[in-house]
Amino acid sequence: MTVIKVAILGFGTVGEGVYRTIQSHAEELTASLGKKVEVAAVLIKNKQKERNISEDVLITTEFADVLSLPQLDIVVEAIVDKEPTFSFLKKAIERGCHIITANKEMFAHHGKELLDLAEKNNVSVGFEATVAGGIPVIQTLRQLLNINRVQKVQGILNGTSNFILTEMREKKQSFAQALQLAQENGFAEADPTNDVEGFDAFYKTMILSRIAFGEEPNWRDVERKGITAITSELIETAETLGLRFKHIACISRLGNQIKATVKPALVGTEHPFYHVEGVQNAINVHSDIVGAITLQGPGAGMFPTASAIIEDLVYVCQNPPAKRSVSSAGDTATILKKGQIKEIWLVHGLSNIQTSSSITKIEHVAEETFIIMAAKKDVEQLAKLEAALVYYPILGEYAPVHQPTTITAL
Ligand SMILES: NC(=O)c1ccc[n+]([C@@H]2O[C@H](COP(=O)([O-])OP(=O)(O)OC[C@H]3O[C@@H](n4cnc5c(N)ncnc54)[C@H](OP(=O)(O)O)[C@@H]3O)[C@@H](O)[C@H]2O)c1
Repeated sequence: MTVIKVAILGFGTVGEGVYRTIQSHAEELTASLGKKVEVAAVLIKNKQKERNISEDVLITTEFADVLSLPQLDIVVEAIVDKEPTFSFLKKAIERGCHIITANKEMFAHHGKELLDLAEKNNVSVGFEATVAGGIPVIQTLRQLLNINRVQKVQGILNGTSNFILTEMREKKQSFAQALQLAQENGFAEADPTNDVEGFDAFYKTMILSRIAFGEEPNWRDVERKGITAITSELIETAETLGLRFKHIACISRLGNQIKATVKPALVGTEHPFYHVEGVQNAINVHSDIVGAITLQGPGAGMFPTASAIIEDLVYVCQNPPAKRSVSSAGDTATILKKGQIKEIWLVHGLSNIQTSSSITKIEHVAEETFIIMAAKKDVEQLAKLEAALVYYPILGEYAPVHQPTTITAL
């Protein structure tokens, strides 16, 4: 029986999970592929660390040693940072290897170059693990896009932020207390900026956009906000209105433009994200034939992430390198002038607010806190006049507490 030889770059949470899964699921892999999968090499940085790796595996700190193995079919990358990872993967592709990566920051920046290079070299790139850990969102989108036209993708893509928001609401904790708990549980890094300021979700959103729409918005045009301005008082007020804060990435096609936002929003009980709690991730895809579907599951962790990588491994072995997957460019969205759509907002930081031609006051829900309907540009204008104003969109329908009719944004 012939053998598929794999190198794993990085032996931290993800790399070790991949190594252990290849051992524990050897039978299933052989049955699927008709070939045995063997780890030939592991690349690490620190040779002094103890690792539970079989003696016949090359353990090295030199990528050149990996590249000069006599047989090498797949390189799995589970390192951190953009470099030296990008350079390693280019060399692996040039050597004729399929590559699989979990590194969203590197892939958001260099994915296009890697996909182009892979196409030239007739190899495949797997990147399922870069978005939402164990949830098979990339494969699902690829499958849907065979015929469906995707109109909108929304996601809770950062488990750390979702965990903090859940803790703040359930245990009435401050942001600082909930962050500390996330760090103690290993859900947040010592420097949590990437997670709580929305950078991690932003990278994942750009990767999703490329899959769903074949292109990305200009990064500078994407509104990216984290969760640090949300107070436990605001969370409590939202709860009295039947709403929960979630950090939501949203990508849609508007006319021939891709529009993306990565920011906190409020959702009601009818929204599929209302019950997505703790470190869970979720993705909601709207397409023209199937309608809306939601995937939910673990967005990180050793084995959920390894699952995504091993599924990619089977995929790249079973499928010839795909021509670059670009979604059908069907323009299904109504072309609306940017900023003109009226949305429902929770705004906080004003002693009063009057209904005007551009802003409709729906209700006064707590001290300095109102629900309004307005176009985004008008809320932004209000925020320019009131520096302390914070504002969050309410997704879907909103039923005012004091008058039981349901209001939907225009
Ligand atoms: N953790 C998750 O749940 C998760 C989920 C999805 C995606 N990801 C992504 O997967 C990647 C790996 O994450 P992780 O949590 O496994 O990280 P980690 O636990 O910090 O492990 C990183 C590994 O990379 C090795 N490494 C770092 N720099 C290196 C270099 N220059 N040359 C060779 N090896 C190097 C480290 O070596 P030493 O062991 O010698 O220090 C370590 O084994 C990241 O890009 C992350 O964003 C992680």
